[in-house]
Amino acid sequence: MSRPRILITSALPYINGIKHLGNLAGSMLPADVYARFERARGAEVLYICATDEHGTPAELAAAAAGQDVRTYCDEQHQLQKDIGQAFHLSFDWFGRSSSPENRALTQHFAEVLENNGLIEERTDQMIYSIDDGRFLPDRYVEGTCPVCSFRPARGDQCDNCGSLLDPTELIEPYSAVSKSTNLEVRDTRHLYVLQTKLQDRIRAFIDSKADFPALTRSIAYKHLDEGLIDRGITRDLAWGVPVTRHGAPRPGFETKVFYVWFDAPIEYIAATQEWANAASGRDWARWWRTDQGADDVRYVQVMGKDNVAFHTVSFPATLIGSEEPWKRVDMLKSFNWLNWYGGKFSTSNRRGVFMDAALELLPADVWRWYLCAQSPESGDSAFTWEAFQNLVNKDLADVLGNFVNRILKFTETRFDGVIPEGGAPGPLEDKLAADVSERLAEMTTAMAGLELRRSAQALRSIWVLGNEYLTEAAPWTAIKTDRDRAAVVVRTGLNLVTLFARLSAPFIPSTASVIAHAVGDGEGLAVWPSMDGAMELDRLPVGRPVKAPDVLFRKIEDAQVAEWTERFGGAPTAA
Ligand code: 2FM
Ligand code: ZN
Repeated sequence: MSRPRILITSALPYINGIKHLGNLAGSMLPADVYARFERARGAEVLYICATDEHGTPAELAAAAAGQDVRTYCDEQHQLQKDIGQAFHLSFDWFGRSSSPENRALTQHFAEVLENNGLIEERTDQMIYSIDDGRFLPDRYVEGTCPVCSFRPARGDQCDNCGSLLDPTELIEPYSAVSKSTNLEVRDTRHLYVLQTKLQDRIRAFIDSKADFPALTRSIAYKHLDEGLIDRGITRDLAWGVPVTRHGAPRPGFETKVFYVWFDAPIEYIAATQEWANAASGRDWARWWRTDQGADDVRYVQVMGKDNVAFHTVSFPATLIGSEEPWKRVDMLKSFNWLNWYGGKFSTSNRRGVFMDAALELLPADVWRWYLCAQSPESGDSAFTWEAFQNLVNKDLADVLGNFVNRILKFTETRFDGVIPEGGAPGPLEDKLAADVSERLAEMTTAMAGLELRRSAQALRSIWVLGNEYLTEAAPWTAIKTDRDRAAVVVRTGLNLVTLFARLSAPFIPSTASVIAHAVGDGEGLAVWPSMDGAMELDRLPVGRPVKAPDVLFRKIEDAQVAEWTERFGGAPTAA
């Protein structure tokens, strides 16, 4: 039987600086956990991500940094790539939406949509800044949200209520560049995708995805029920994919580019082309073209809730409207917000902990565990230093770290650091095996469904089972009277160690590797365990030398919490 093939994309992080923990928690990290899980289950996984480099976020950030946009993007892409690696994000490719591949593919989609009668040129009223001498698309203009009154809402979307906005809807708008309120509305020509014509097909597509999570479906239907509107896909900007027609600059559009949200999702495909172009023997089409094998692919997208409308309406409109055989998403996993205390993480205000700063404090695995265990899955979740300290100390230091350390130290002192032979499993081991089997099934189901919190809970409960077993079986007592009995417990305990490593690997890959190597089972790490507890507790060969690792997780001290609270702030800043 051929291996299942799974294509995974996580929302493309904007190029405007290193991302905060909220970005990580809601897209790249869960996608990575899932990718690692499916690889261990034997699937052929392709996990694609990229920097989202066009549009106003890039232009504004480059201007603020005093750099030209290309140089800024080059630098920031490398930074984000490096920090992703430092967080053990196992992208098969981390591309760039400013690539030639994406330029060509974006222009291709516009071309075929127009050929299919789905693009129209219209005259638009756009905000023009007299002081800046330019149009102010999207984030170039800020103001008060017409829906929830939040200020400052950005011209394209309100960060507070998630409404997609048109800049002209903002109340008391001002220029994000100069803060000038000396604005007027001027005519400008733009291309529109006629989503109204595709409405029924998009709804049918969403209807066919009954297994999409509730959050995803509710957002999709909210937009469908409100009625789709035709969507402007060009902007008066210099940086982006140039607007072409029949392979040449489109007359009247020489100073315009495609809208960042038109080209960004197309980069999922283009990044796969970048991946294929980077080495021989790679075929992008078998992942994306249903006429070239992609029908067999399961395509999973992961993103924060603010991205869902673009992926359930806009991007499907592009793919469906093309009338070409493109692979469409099979599972769209979305997340709520990870908040910073009572307020929001904010890139522009540098509020919260960012990926680079996080790694100065603690290893990636510690953050990964916290962000998975407290995943903003069923609702928003709030980061606080105290909760972080509490969870990390309890789960990682007390439960997992302590178990591994106890059993390995005991093996070293009482069994010369060798997996002992002798004795046979008794009722305690049978019960453990049955409990483990049950939890294994539960965890595996949760992992396959991208249910992060449930997966982490199930994993934690397996760690706890191990601790309870060790306490009850008490090899340190048994050894005094019954060496064979102690040997059984130690063997079982060491098998638990390697089981823990394998199950923990998607969450804390670096520590899992240390743990697996401590019992000489580096290879086992790459393979997801069976559901058979008894078998999993009897895998390691007797006679193999093992060695206690250095402390796996240091406890977070109150003094550190005090210091970090001071350094990063912690007080809820009103959003
Ligand atoms: O919201 C964001 O951070 C966007 N950069 C996500 C883009 S996802 C995809 F469509 F490219
Ligand atoms: Zn709002």
